[in-house]
Amino acid sequence: MITFDTIIRGGTVVTDTETLQCDVGISGGKVAELGENLSDAREVVDAAGKLVMPGGIDSHVHLAQPSAPGIVMADDFASGTRAAAFGGNTMVLPFALQQKGESLRQVVKDYHAKADGKCYVDVSFHLIIADATERVLGQELPALVEDGYTSFKVFMTYEGLALSDLEMLNVMSVARETGALVMVHAENYDAIRFLTDRLERAGNTAPKFHAASRPIPVEREATHRAISLAEIVDVPIMIVHVSNRAAMEEIARAQARGLKIYGETCPQYLVLTEKDLGGLNMEGAKYVCSPPPRDEPSQQACWEGLQQGIFSLFSSDHCPFRYDDPHGKLHPKGRTSFRWVPNGIPGIETRLPILFSEGVGKGRISLNEFVALTSTNHAKTYGLYPQKGAIAAGSDADIAIWDPEREVTISQKLMHGGCDYTPYEGLSVKGWPVSTILRGKFVVRDGALVGAPGAGSYVSRAKSPLAAPR
Ligand code: URP
Ligand code: ZN
Ligand code: ZN
Repeated sequence: MITFDTIIRGGTVVTDTETLQCDVGISGGKVAELGENLSDAREVVDAAGKLVMPGGIDSHVHLAQPSAPGIVMADDFASGTRAAAFGGNTMVLPFALQQKGESLRQVVKDYHAKADGKCYVDVSFHLIIADATERVLGQELPALVEDGYTSFKVFMTYEGLALSDLEMLNVMSVARETGALVMVHAENYDAIRFLTDRLERAGNTAPKFHAASRPIPVEREATHRAISLAEIVDVPIMIVHVSNRAAMEEIARAQARGLKIYGETCPQYLVLTEKDLGGLNMEGAKYVCSPPPRDEPSQQACWEGLQQGIFSLFSSDHCPFRYDDPHGKLHPKGRTSFRWVPNGIPGIETRLPILFSEGVGKGRISLNEFVALTSTNHAKTYGLYPQKGAIAAGSDADIAIWDPEREVTISQKLMHGGCDYTPYEGLSVKGWPVSTILRGKFVVRDGALVGAPGAGSYVSRAKSPLAAPR
């Protein structure tokens, strides 16, 4: 009898805690053994000179999510997860978005229907709670948490999504009772409305004014308020897509006081600035996302947040809209004000190479920190560890093989999703994922797609160990 289905031989295996020269033996889709000179397999994959790391887990992505009438997201579950696989990811966590009046259970069914049979990598859903009614909070949400939908996002801004403080408290209270983890989009809705109206009245409607409509205090205040509400309820929360020092320091102070407040940042806050929003004509619309990219000191702050563990997650917040498309960013609904540009940018395929090159390559973080920030911490935060986020006996054999020397200039020509641009066009990186293995089977092999839609499965999640109250 043959011992292993596959051996990945001669690579450098990197986990969140260890860096080892060893082979990886895979059987039945699981990691069976780590060891030197493993033999006896159906297939041996030569990984000499390569890094063998847990596949990336991108725990903040938006796929096939409605935005506004007439606007269509650029990625469905097929194109989005294909791009994810090319970017070295083996799992993504998109959102199932409830709109006002909708049953949360029905929303979940709808998103399963969108995803079933289409995914190239594994998926699991967070919920977005937009209608915090008694029925949703009292019945549907607790039942869904028990069914493995153990995290949900709430918005403090956006028309139709923003919850009042009272609603936030009620949602947080359900999270406390059920052991779910709340993710918070922290921006002050009224302040954004006030600033947007004022900018428009003054004729300041170009995309660059998107940044002026939601300056740092808008995010800092909401971050502070979200933390205060969580403290009142005594429930852990994750503040997502943090963009600047003031918001980061709110989180750091809360952590120093012993609160279980977690933070996430994203590539756009490390390598883009609000200057990118100032492109000619509508070009800046390609960078419209919320919170907006800030400035170099904010980038530095986000690096410090990653280095000091204030941010435990590095996610893409992939939220793609095509640029030159009637359903996209260029002429949103025939209007030209930044107010109507759909918020969000693509990044599912570039998240890992950007952090690898700018972080590991430039000595800002270690290889092990890279794995933690892009894979292991996501699994630990969202109830997937150690099935996911590890290369250890018994874990799913979800593996990315990296060429640490490959130099690539990021370009839309190289991308595999449904968007028609990348905000990182022209950024040179060193280090690239060349092969992606999902539960022991190649999805991408030496840069070529070999997986099929439907190879990726839905994964039900346990409750987050981080969600337990103090
Ligand atoms: O602009 C962004 N970030 N769009 C995606 C939705 C969200 O708030 O995460
Ligand atoms: Zn958000
Ligand atoms: Zn998002």
